[in-house]
Amino acid sequence: MPPVSQDTGSNGMDAAFPGFARFVRMFWMQPILLHRLLRSSDVETDASWLALRRGTAAQRQYARYSLLMLVVLMPAFTFIVGFVLEADFAGVAFGVAFGVAGGVASGMAGGVAGGMGFGVAGGVVEGIALGAAVSVASSVASSVASSVAFGVTGGVIRGVASGVAFGVASGVAFGVAFSISFLRIPISVVEVTWLTICRTIERLWGRSTLPWCPVRYHDLSYLPLPGLRAQLLSPYADPEMLEDVLAACTRAPGQRRIARDVLAALQARELRDLLATNHLRAITGLRGRWLPGLAAPEPRLVQWRDFVAALLAAQIALGPRHRLQQVQRAERILEQLRTGLLTDSRFEAGEYLQTLETARRLSTAMRQEAQKLAAEQLPNPFRPDGNPLIPEFGAETFRGRADAARRIELLLSEQQAAAIALLAPRRMGKTSLLRMLPQMLPDTLCVFFDLQDHPLRQPLDLFTGLARCVHEQASAAQRPSLPTLAGDTLDDARTWLEALDHRPGGERVLLCLDEFERLEDLADEQPDTRLQLRRMMGLLRATIQHRRRVRFLVSGTATFDELGTLWTDTFISAQEVRLGPLAPDVAEALIHQPLPESEGFPSTTVPEAIAKAVLARTGGQPYLTQLFGYWLIDTLNESKRRTALLEDIDTVEELVCDKAGGYFRESVNPRGAEFDVRAAIEAIVASDAAGDAAVELSGEQKRFLVRRGLLTREGTLAFPVLARWLQDFA
Ligand SMILES: Nc1ncnc2c1ncn2[C@@H]1O[C@H](COP(=O)(O)OP(=O)(O)O)[C@@H](O)[C@H]1O
Ligand SMILES: [Mg+2]
Repeated sequence: MPPVSQDTGSNGMDAAFPGFARFVRMFWMQPILLHRLLRSSDVETDASWLALRRGTAAQRQYARYSLLMLVVLMPAFTFIVGFVLEADFAGVAFGVAFGVAGGVASGMAGGVAGGMGFGVAGGVVEGIALGAAVSVASSVASSVASSVAFGVTGGVIRGVASGVAFGVASGVAFGVAFSISFLRIPISVVEVTWLTICRTIERLWGRSTLPWCPVRYHDLSYLPLPGLRAQLLSPYADPEMLEDVLAACTRAPGQRRIARDVLAALQARELRDLLATNHLRAITGLRGRWLPGLAAPEPRLVQWRDFVAALLAAQIALGPRHRLQQVQRAERILEQLRTGLLTDSRFEAGEYLQTLETARRLSTAMRQEAQKLAAEQLPNPFRPDGNPLIPEFGAETFRGRADAARRIELLLSEQQAAAIALLAPRRMGKTSLLRMLPQMLPDTLCVFFDLQDHPLRQPLDLFTGLARCVHEQASAAQRPSLPTLAGDTLDDARTWLEALDHRPGGERVLLCLDEFERLEDLADEQPDTRLQLRRMMGLLRATIQHRRRVRFLVSGTATFDELGTLWTDTFISAQEVRLGPLAPDVAEALIHQPLPESEGFPSTTVPEAIAKAVLARTGGQPYLTQLFGYWLIDTLNESKRRTALLEDIDTVEELVCDKAGGYFRESVNPRGAEFDVRAAIEAIVASDAAGDAAVELSGEQKRFLVRRGLLTREGTLAFPVLARWLQDFA
């Protein structure tokens, strides 16, 4: 916004209130800005005359200005314009007088009085923007035009003056004058000429002419100004001035599109600069002068953010193989961006193609570096970070779980509608299974929703989040005809679920809520949140009972009877699917041959005996299996060996104990335990070591430990490496 004059800062009035000269100028040229300014000074432009007279200092001032304009300035101005444009003084004195009087009268009646209510009362309103000023201007122009018509007609057919010709001529003139003045074409002509001069100055002297940009001084241009884009995108433009001009452009009805185009192009340039200077973190937050932040980014900007997030993941990836995979993921996103841009006819597409080139150079350099490193080492596909395996990343080490998928499939095809509960201790592979499920159940639309990634402010946010995930994941899987969620009420959610159930084609939809216990965090809040939670659970229950094709799967660590009645009520008939450790042959094969020989992993690298030894330490627990695998291969790479030895197991186990401390600690302090789990485990370890009979645990305690994945049904430790951790690291 341009600086605001301070000349009426006295009388306790807001310093932002314009002086009269500025008021008049803005009334004609920047009515939209004026309207906003008045609003900020608390002047209700549609208040009545009396209210304004008795109002605050600013309101009284506004009333005074309006009156002054109405009775003095506008008639005077109209007369002068009419007079100057009128050449034939003698012949058309009558025309002028008539036209001006008529024009002003109609302007006041139609425009000013209508828009401002005798100057004031009806209000400058948005009407100042679009009504009053325009109609005043048009009344001026039309009065001028009709006076001209009067005069010309009078001159040409003087003597044979026919009433009909006279009327037609003045009517046509009035029409033309009206549209010309409504669109403010004369002003646009001046502006375009001015812009051309500005561009020439820029070219000749290499300086920005943005401060003189006409849009800063004129709100009501309806025709897009040619040359404006170029002026805004000039390399000499000062960013602050540019912000100011862009704000002015969004006020002017004819320049809004240009403002959008320019902003998009500036974003493309900013992305390019950030990439070139390696400021990748800024891009992940879409932070910058022109970038919009993460609140409501455009889909394309989200893709750019994903691209950069993959590059960053590559930079911190453990080992060249993971780095390479992340770079390749980034390159796939880049390819999607390119395909989108090739068919994009919007203004900014060209800028984005250049940004794409910069991005490609960056990712290529990273890929070559990772490839070089990878070529010198054994490939290490294991995931040491405990993150779930997803189709795009780490899927080659996803093993087993066919039985669980088959059981889910079976439950889905049963006519008896019921929710499915996927239950397992932490890090047993629930999330990984859910992420891989779309590939295992190709004829079901499986939608993954993680309550950990989408923390809910209130219970009903669940449906908004779910709907977003359905769209994202379904469009990735190219599923058409998805209903959209209309709003954020319970009824909207109900309608949406119903529409999802009745989609043409009859495909099943499995809505998977991962970490569903987190919903409980919401229950502790205020009473109305609790009420909303109950209602939401009611809708879930109704959906579970009555919808045939939309099904819910919730996954978590606790069984429903361990949670409150809220859960048992909703999931009363839920069918449980439990995940345990990987089957022994599966875990062993994973350690022995994580990648096929064809991908550079000789089967002699991890001999079967060693794979068996690893299995004996992890019991097939998937997270620990991945950790052992990762550090085993890492140890080989570090010592430049190609074959693992039995002695390596001990070194690797130390590394694993060190890295998995958090997991072990939580395992021996599980939520909801009513006895000292750690002491119980230590007792079992001690009695095993001494060769005694198993420690006496109550049936319930034993069941608890088995359910938490700590004990096998036979009463031995589920993953013996825990004993080592307790002894040396706890
Ligand atoms: N089927 C599987 N095969 C191999 N490793 C797995 C499998 N499922 C999970 N993992 C490993 O276990 C770790 C924990 O998996 P995750 O899915 O996050 O478990 P949860 O969701 O139960 O906590 C992951 O790092 C992953 O590497
Ligand atoms: Mg998980």
